[in-house]
Amino acid sequence: MALLPILEFPDPRLRTQAAAVDPADLATPAFQTLIDDMFQTMYEAPGIGLAASQVDVHKRFMVIDVTEDRSRPLVFVNPVITARDGEQIYQEGCLSVPGIYADVTRSDTITVEALDRHGQPFTLQADGVLAVCIQHEMDHLLGKLFVDYLSPLKREMVRKKLLKAKRAA
Ligand code: NI
Repeated sequence: MALLPILEFPDPRLRTQAAAVDPADLATPAFQTLIDDMFQTMYEAPGIGLAASQVDVHKRFMVIDVTEDRSRPLVFVNPVITARDGEQIYQEGCLSVPGIYADVTRSDTITVEALDRHGQPFTLQADGVLAVCIQHEMDHLLGKLFVDYLSPLKREMVRKKLLKAKRAA
């Protein structure tokens, strides 16, 4: 397994719309290795979710594990939210926007349909941080970042701060 480089805001590649995964591709060793590498990259970071877009792979899939003991790895391929209810506010962060945290309002409970890493369809009802994480990662697949929910002024401050940090590094 290998650690993958994570794209960081304001990298324009993070704005790419991901294309649907051909389920036949899931059977290839390359795809399975990529999923393992994404989990390793996410755990190492550490983070609770990683969308393919963040590692410059513009296909609709993502990996998530919101448990503290890293015991529930989930893979969502071609995810679709089929129901949503309520609202919650959660202070989000993102491996592509390091060191920045901000409150974002999202649906409280969601139902998501997707394929697992072996192409098997599943339906999951999620709430709490898992629901937040699924919505956050699905945004990445649309080229959207959590800082897009902030005011333009705040987003510009985040952009400058990250560019400055990168120059200093
Ligand atoms: Ni993110």
